[in-house]
Amino acid sequence: MESVQAIKQRFGIIGDDPKLNRAVEKAIQVAPTDISVLVTGESGVGKESIPKIIHALSHRKHGKYIAVNCGAIPEGTIDSELFGHEKGAFTGATQTRSGYFEVADGGTIFLDEVGELPLPTQVRLLRVLENGEFIKVGSSKVQKTDVRIVAATNINMFENIKKDKFREDLYYRLSTVEIALPPLRERKGDIHLLFRKFASDFGLKYKMPTIKLDDEAVALLLKYRWGGNIRQLRNIAEQVSVLEQKRNISGDELRQYLPDIGSNLPAVISDKKKEGDFSNEREILYKVLFDMKSDLNDLKKLTLKLMQEGDSKQVQDDNEGLIEKIYGNSGDDIDEADIDEDELNVLQIPQQNSSSPSQEEKDKYYFAEEIEEEETLSLQDKELELIKKSLERHSGKRKAAAEELGISERTLYRKIKQYNL
Ligand SMILES: Nc1ncnc2c1ncn2[C@@H]1O[C@H](COP(=O)(O)OP(=O)(O)OP(=O)(O)O)[C@@H](O)[C@H]1O
Ligand SMILES: [Mg+2]
Repeated sequence: MESVQAIKQRFGIIGDDPKLNRAVEKAIQVAPTDISVLVTGESGVGKESIPKIIHALSHRKHGKYIAVNCGAIPEGTIDSELFGHEKGAFTGATQTRSGYFEVADGGTIFLDEVGELPLPTQVRLLRVLENGEFIKVGSSKVQKTDVRIVAATNINMFENIKKDKFREDLYYRLSTVEIALPPLRERKGDIHLLFRKFASDFGLKYKMPTIKLDDEAVALLLKYRWGGNIRQLRNIAEQVSVLEQKRNISGDELRQYLPDIGSNLPAVISDKKKEGDFSNEREILYKVLFDMKSDLNDLKKLTLKLMQEGDSKQVQDDNEGLIEKIYGNSGDDIDEADIDEDELNVLQIPQQNSSSPSQEEKDKYYFAEEIEEEETLSLQDKELELIKKSLERHSGKRKAAAEELGISERTLYRKIKQYNL
């Protein structure tokens, strides 16, 4: 059996706290079995490594590993995503589709944010856990699968059970073994270690000397509550690395970066605004810029279609949604699910179909493309910064951050994945 230290190294887990070591040890011990595991712990404590360890050390390691964020899939499609559907099961189901439980046969499924599963899906999940049986949406045929389930949650499941939001029988079935990851504030010995590791990573990434904390700054780091845990610590290490000119950071300097929301240190937060810290007005301005950029891209798509197809009536009919989005209709809100995933990405230069352009024309295109990419990149940087700031302000709580940013939680989740936050 691989040692706890070797596994931590293999999976990039930093720290030597006894509770963390115990969690890793438990993962190693249960890995060879098919026991269901529930990973618990606050947001940002590093839960996502545990199912990966379990899968990699199990006899299923050559099978599929599928991570599903239950909180990010709309209630209307989750059963179909997990269990598949038959052709014609609902509008738009033009083909029979396999769900994750079928695809991952012989492998492992990680159900992240399992507490968010709707009740009907919980019933289906219970059945798979009990006898490996499931039924595709719209089908009556019982299918079998052999999947190991590891679930994770950052909420108190008993509260959900009390409120009849989560089935008690499913909870016990999922949590045959529970692996609890401690919050960062209870891992005092690891805080500075983690900070040094992140500071060194960001120093390398941004090609700057690594920042160093003085004694007062280290003491502050240890006293801070870290509501967003390791995710928050890493974000702060990145901000300080990028925004501070000096490489030796004092307590006062560090304090500017520690938001008081969710912290037990409200008194130590200074009102002084840092250069490079976003004031509200700037954030609003950036938001407006993103919206404009998105509209511009939509307009470009539409113009391009008109140019290519020339048939304005047909284009209007085909792009009703887009037109409504740009020009508005009766003031209805646009469903975020309809927005193109790549709405902020650069519009691709179209394939030339008929006569190929002259070199001069080509150069013009490429020049235009380059400029546009730079602009988009810097806007994306700002968006990334906005999201980070908001997540920090809300100690990593996505719901509150999404509300503040005026986007849906699902969109925020997509952005977090996109920017690898
Ligand atoms: N011990 C650790 N060493 C190094 N990095 C870590 C450690 N624990 C967590 N991280 C990093 O912190 C970030 C947050 O971890 P992770 O995504 O696993 O959190 P989580 O517990 O799943 O949170 P949530 O409940 O919000 O999904 C990740 O980027 C992860 O790589
Ligand atoms: Mg997670």
